[in-house]
Amino acid sequence: MQYSFVTLAKAAALFATIFAALIVFIWGPSAERVEAQRGGAAIYSQNCARCHGSDGRAQTQKGRQTKAVDLTSDDWTPDTDHDARRVANGKGSMPPFKNKLTQAEINAVVQYIRRFKR
Ligand code: HEC
Repeated sequence: MQYSFVTLAKAAALFATIFAALIVFIWGPSAERVEAQRGGAAIYSQNCARCHGSDGRAQTQKGRQTKAVDLTSDDWTPDTDHDARRVANGKGSMPPFKNKLTQAEINAVVQYIRRFKR
Protein backbone atom coordinates (compact mmCIF):
# COMPACT_ATOMS: atom_id res chain seq x y z
CA MET A 1 0.00 0.00 0.00
CA GLN A 2 1.18 3.48 -0.83
CA TYR A 3 0.55 6.50 1.45
CA SER A 4 0.88 9.96 0.04
CA PHE A 5 3.09 12.44 1.85
CA VAL A 6 0.01 14.47 2.78
CA THR A 7 -1.65 11.48 4.42
CA LEU A 8 1.48 10.77 6.43
CA ALA A 9 1.80 14.40 7.47
CA LYS A 10 -1.83 14.44 8.60
CA ALA A 11 -1.33 11.26 10.58
CA ALA A 12 1.80 12.71 12.19
CA ALA A 13 -0.04 15.92 13.09
CA LEU A 14 -2.89 13.92 14.57
CA PHE A 15 -0.46 11.88 16.65
CA ALA A 16 1.30 14.99 17.86
CA THR A 17 -2.02 16.52 18.90
CA ILE A 18 -3.10 13.39 20.78
CA PHE A 19 0.31 13.14 22.41
CA ALA A 20 0.24 16.78 23.51
CA ALA A 21 -3.29 16.39 24.87
CA LEU A 22 -2.18 13.32 26.80
CA ILE A 23 0.78 15.19 28.30
CA VAL A 24 -1.47 18.05 29.40
CA PHE A 25 -3.94 15.53 30.79
CA ILE A 26 -1.29 13.72 32.83
CA TRP A 27 0.93 16.63 33.85
CA GLY A 28 -1.58 19.45 33.76
CA PRO A 29 -2.27 21.52 36.83
CA SER A 30 -4.32 19.35 39.14
CA ALA A 31 -5.84 21.27 42.03
CA GLU A 32 -3.36 19.69 44.44
CA ARG A 33 -0.34 20.53 42.34
CA VAL A 34 -1.46 24.16 42.03
CA GLU A 35 -1.86 24.30 45.81
CA ALA A 36 1.58 22.84 46.38
CA GLN A 37 3.10 25.34 43.98
CA ARG A 38 1.24 28.22 45.54
CA GLY A 39 3.09 27.00 48.57
CA GLY A 40 2.62 27.50 52.24
CA ALA A 41 3.22 31.26 52.13
CA ALA A 42 -0.21 32.28 50.90
CA ILE A 43 -1.93 29.68 53.05
CA TYR A 44 -0.05 30.96 56.10
CA SER A 45 -0.80 34.62 55.47
CA GLN A 46 -4.49 33.90 54.88
CA ASN A 47 -5.07 31.50 57.78
CA CYS A 48 -2.36 31.75 60.40
CA ALA A 49 -0.66 35.15 60.36
CA ARG A 50 -3.46 36.93 62.21
CA CYS A 51 -2.47 34.95 65.32
CA HIS A 52 1.06 33.71 64.72
CA GLY A 53 2.16 36.91 62.95
CA SER A 54 3.74 37.22 59.51
CA ASP A 55 7.11 36.78 61.26
CA GLY A 56 5.90 33.80 63.33
CA ARG A 57 6.39 35.64 66.64
CA ALA A 58 2.69 35.74 67.51
CA GLN A 59 2.91 39.40 68.53
CA THR A 60 -0.29 40.42 66.75
CA GLN A 61 -3.19 41.57 68.90
CA LYS A 62 -4.98 38.29 68.27
CA GLY A 63 -1.79 36.36 68.91
CA ARG A 64 -1.31 37.96 72.32
CA GLN A 65 -5.00 37.55 73.14
CA THR A 66 -5.03 33.83 72.36
CA LYS A 67 -1.45 33.22 73.56
CA ALA A 68 -0.58 31.70 70.20
CA VAL A 69 2.68 29.79 70.05
CA ASP A 70 5.75 31.81 69.03
CA LEU A 71 6.93 29.76 66.05
CA THR A 72 10.45 31.23 66.30
CA SER A 73 10.83 30.18 69.94
CA ASP A 74 13.15 27.49 71.26
CA ASP A 75 10.18 26.23 73.24
CA TRP A 76 8.58 25.04 70.04
CA THR A 77 10.09 22.24 67.96
CA PRO A 78 8.62 21.54 64.53
CA ASP A 79 7.21 18.03 64.17
CA THR A 80 5.55 17.35 60.85
CA ASP A 81 2.99 14.77 62.02
CA HIS A 82 2.18 16.48 65.29
CA ASP A 83 1.85 19.91 63.67
CA ALA A 84 -0.30 18.60 60.82
CA ARG A 85 -2.69 17.05 63.36
CA ARG A 86 -2.70 20.25 65.43
CA VAL A 87 -3.55 22.36 62.40
CA ALA A 88 -6.24 19.90 61.29
CA ASN A 89 -7.89 19.54 64.69
CA GLY A 90 -6.96 22.76 66.49
CA LYS A 91 -6.34 23.04 70.22
CA GLY A 92 -7.58 25.47 72.83
CA SER A 93 -8.06 28.83 71.11
CA MET A 94 -6.48 27.63 67.88
CA PRO A 95 -9.31 26.68 65.50
CA PRO A 96 -9.32 23.43 63.50
CA PHE A 97 -8.53 23.82 59.80
CA LYS A 98 -9.53 20.40 58.50
CA ASN A 99 -12.73 21.73 56.93
CA LYS A 100 -11.01 24.79 55.52
CA LEU A 101 -7.76 23.43 54.12
CA THR A 102 -7.03 20.26 52.14
CA GLN A 103 -4.51 17.78 53.51
CA ALA A 104 -2.06 19.02 50.85
CA GLU A 105 -2.53 22.61 52.03
CA ILE A 106 -2.03 21.59 55.66
CA ASN A 107 1.18 19.75 54.73
CA ALA A 108 2.38 22.78 52.76
CA VAL A 109 1.78 25.22 55.60
CA VAL A 110 3.36 22.83 58.15
CA GLN A 111 6.50 22.82 55.99
CA TYR A 112 6.30 26.59 55.59
CA ILE A 113 6.30 27.39 59.32
CA ARG A 114 9.66 25.67 59.74
CA ARG A 115 11.32 28.71 58.22
CA PHE A 116 10.62 30.74 61.35
CA LYS A 117 13.07 28.60 63.29
CA ARG A 118 16.02 29.68 61.15
C1 HEC B 1 -7.05 32.17 66.45
C2 HEC B 1 -5.61 32.18 66.55
C3 HEC B 1 -4.82 31.12 65.80
C4 HEC B 1 -4.82 30.85 64.47
C5 HEC B 1 -5.65 31.49 63.38
C6 HEC B 1 -3.83 29.81 64.26
N1 HEC B 1 -3.26 29.47 65.45
FE1 HEC B 1 -1.80 28.09 65.73
N2 HEC B 1 -1.94 28.34 67.73
C7 HEC B 1 -2.79 29.21 68.37
C8 HEC B 1 -2.74 28.98 69.80
C9 HEC B 1 -3.53 29.74 70.85
C10 HEC B 1 -1.85 27.90 70.00
C11 HEC B 1 -1.51 27.23 71.31
C12 HEC B 1 -2.52 26.10 71.50
C13 HEC B 1 -2.36 25.40 72.82
O1 HEC B 1 -1.37 24.67 72.96
O2 HEC B 1 -3.22 25.57 73.65
C14 HEC B 1 -1.35 27.54 68.67
C15 HEC B 1 -0.41 26.56 68.44
C16 HEC B 1 0.12 26.26 67.20
C17 HEC B 1 1.22 25.34 66.98
C18 HEC B 1 2.01 24.59 68.04
C19 HEC B 1 1.36 23.26 68.28
C20 HEC B 1 2.12 22.45 69.28
O3 HEC B 1 1.44 21.83 70.10
O4 HEC B 1 3.35 22.42 69.27
C21 HEC B 1 1.42 25.31 65.64
C22 HEC B 1 2.47 24.49 64.91
C23 HEC B 1 0.47 26.20 65.04
N3 HEC B 1 -0.31 26.76 66.01
C24 HEC B 1 0.37 26.43 63.68
C25 HEC B 1 -0.66 27.15 63.10
C26 HEC B 1 -0.88 27.21 61.69
C27 HEC B 1 -0.03 26.53 60.64
C28 HEC B 1 -1.99 27.99 61.51
C29 HEC B 1 -2.69 28.31 60.21
C30 HEC B 1 -3.16 27.20 59.41
C31 HEC B 1 -2.44 28.43 62.81
N4 HEC B 1 -1.61 27.90 63.75
C32 HEC B 1 -3.50 29.27 63.02
C33 HEC B 1 -3.57 30.18 67.76
C34 HEC B 1 -3.86 30.23 66.42
